[in-house]
Amino acid sequence: MTHLWITGASQGIGRAVALAAAQRGWTVSATARGEEGLTALVLAGAGRISAFPGDITDRAGLAAVVDAVEAANGPITVAVLNAGTHQPTDGAAFDPSVYDRLIAVNLGGAINSLAAILPRFTARKSGRVALVSSVAAYRGLPKAGAYCASKAAVTALAESLRLDLAAVGVRVQVIHPGFVRTPLTDKNTFPMPFLVEPEAAAARILTGLEGNGFEIAFPRRFVFLLKLLRLLPYRLYFALVARQTGV
Ligand SMILES: NC(=O)c1ccc[n+]([C@@H]2O[C@H](COP(=O)([O-])OP(=O)(O)OC[C@H]3O[C@@H](n4cnc5c(N)ncnc54)[C@H](OP(=O)(O)O)[C@@H]3O)[C@@H](O)[C@H]2O)c1
Repeated sequence: MTHLWITGASQGIGRAVALAAAQRGWTVSATARGEEGLTALVLAGAGRISAFPGDITDRAGLAAVVDAVEAANGPITVAVLNAGTHQPTDGAAFDPSVYDRLIAVNLGGAINSLAAILPRFTARKSGRVALVSSVAAYRGLPKAGAYCASKAAVTALAESLRLDLAAVGVRVQVIHPGFVRTPLTDKNTFPMPFLVEPEAAAARILTGLEGNGFEIAFPRRFVFLLKLLRLLPYRLYFALVARQTGV
């Protein structure tokens, strides 16, 4: 039996992944702070989804959530650490509180989630954990210093853990979505190239979770272009991004 624990499941990508996993017959344990969103998800989940409210920035609280998840639904076999947030930043009006918050949620939340599940996975010598990062982890982007820094750290963390945990039978993956239409991106006022619907993102994520590759990245063409940008020397990269974004 596949038992998925997913954070950030009350809306957006997490909700779509939870529903797609339930449709595949997986047992799904869903965590987020918003109980209303979780209740709606459970109702849509045809009896396969249960809600375990929690805040990923609360390490002790999250450990108790994972205790409750396994007591109710058995050992977690797949964990998707999806909860995260974004807020634009402007280096010319530097506000450290935004950086603190995004690091606490995006990186700290991943660390707290790992602290809750990894001892169980390593003791069982099995389990799969996927950390949701972003294509924004590939290089620093304008007006996104806090987000890029937090997601680049998540990607580096996933790479290190992949190396550390392979020998003990725990598989680590990273998820690099491009733009996905969710309540998070609905706030964006700029054009979002290659925007995909959350259901399409969920399908890509589930296929990736069933495979053995490290990186689950989509949509392909956008990822290809951004990986080309990553190869450029700084001088060219900065000039190109400045021209494209008008910064
Ligand atoms: N949408 C995109 O284009 C895109 C692209 C690349 C990467 N991503 C990443 O994909 C993930 C999901 O993004 P999304 O677009 O689906 O965002 P979203 O619509 O804002 O959903 C975020 C989810 O995270 C939960 N969450 C936020 N803070 C939390 C906390 N402290 N504790 C527990 N849950 C928390 C939210 O639930 P509550 O508020 O109810 O707690 C919600 O369920 C994020 O990590 C994001 O960075 C998104």
